[in-house]
Amino acid sequence: MFEKFTSWKKDKVPNVPKENESMSIPHHVAIIMDGNGRWAKQKGLPRVAGHREGMKVVNKIVKKANDIGVKVLTLYAFSTENWKRPKPEVEFLMKLPELYLDKELPKLVEQNVKVQLMGRRENLPEHTLRAVDTAIEQTKQNTGLILNFALNYGSRAEIIDAVQSIAKDVEAGVISHESIDESVIASYLMTKELPDPDLLIRTSGEMRLSNFMLWQLAYSEFCFTDVLWPDFSEKHFMEAIHMYQQRARRYGGV
Ligand code: FPP
Repeated sequence: MFEKFTSWKKDKVPNVPKENESMSIPHHVAIIMDGNGRWAKQKGLPRVAGHREGMKVVNKIVKKANDIGVKVLTLYAFSTENWKRPKPEVEFLMKLPELYLDKELPKLVEQNVKVQLMGRRENLPEHTLRAVDTAIEQTKQNTGLILNFALNYGSRAEIIDAVQSIAKDVEAGVISHESIDESVIASYLMTKELPDPDLLIRTSGEMRLSNFMLWQLAYSEFCFTDVLWPDFSEKHFMEAIHMYQQRARRYGGV
């Protein structure tokens, strides 16, 4: 009954676009990497085993996105709400960036990938920040894919921070309240130097945004798949890209 609202069910693989169809590659792809816990549970493994497997998938999708010419890949790795998880799981999730970057940073440098962080730095452990900051520093000259890790990120927190900064700047006379428009608000968000996502992918069958890029996703195309993140492959990624290429984007027009 809900099938027609579900843009991408696992048995309904979208067709590859025909030769003459627009082959436009989305500039910015954002992914909610969901389903690690369920993947682990299905296999009788602890939840962290799902996160570890999910980390391997990050590697594959980064490479694929870079290869096909995506400019920005934003990955929701840890939300402002994820602190509510059991302490050992949070500690493991906070180790993932260094586990990933310790191994993959040389390859990211070589592949011309530029690492960025989106999220509140406060509360992130020092060892996590150290790993991410090292990657940011070592890849800052790179001109290929921007790999934007959303860590301790929440859209409402981001909007609160932006509103507070705008209020401060109005009070200080830096900007006038009449000048506040979409572009001013966008310039106070953590994505101020990035285009809005063209395509959002969420794995694991959940169809919600979970406080992710609420402002920036206003006109993005959404693809939901039942595939759990640790099972997500380059093939699934390309299916989402092909689905995106078949969408007619109207931005509220006709
Ligand atoms: C949601 O699945 C997933 C997360 C909260 C963590 C996502 C992190 C990764 C995929 C690895 C990130 C890698 C790097 C390099 C930082 P869930 O745990 O909520 O799954 P469930 O809904 O099945 O329980």
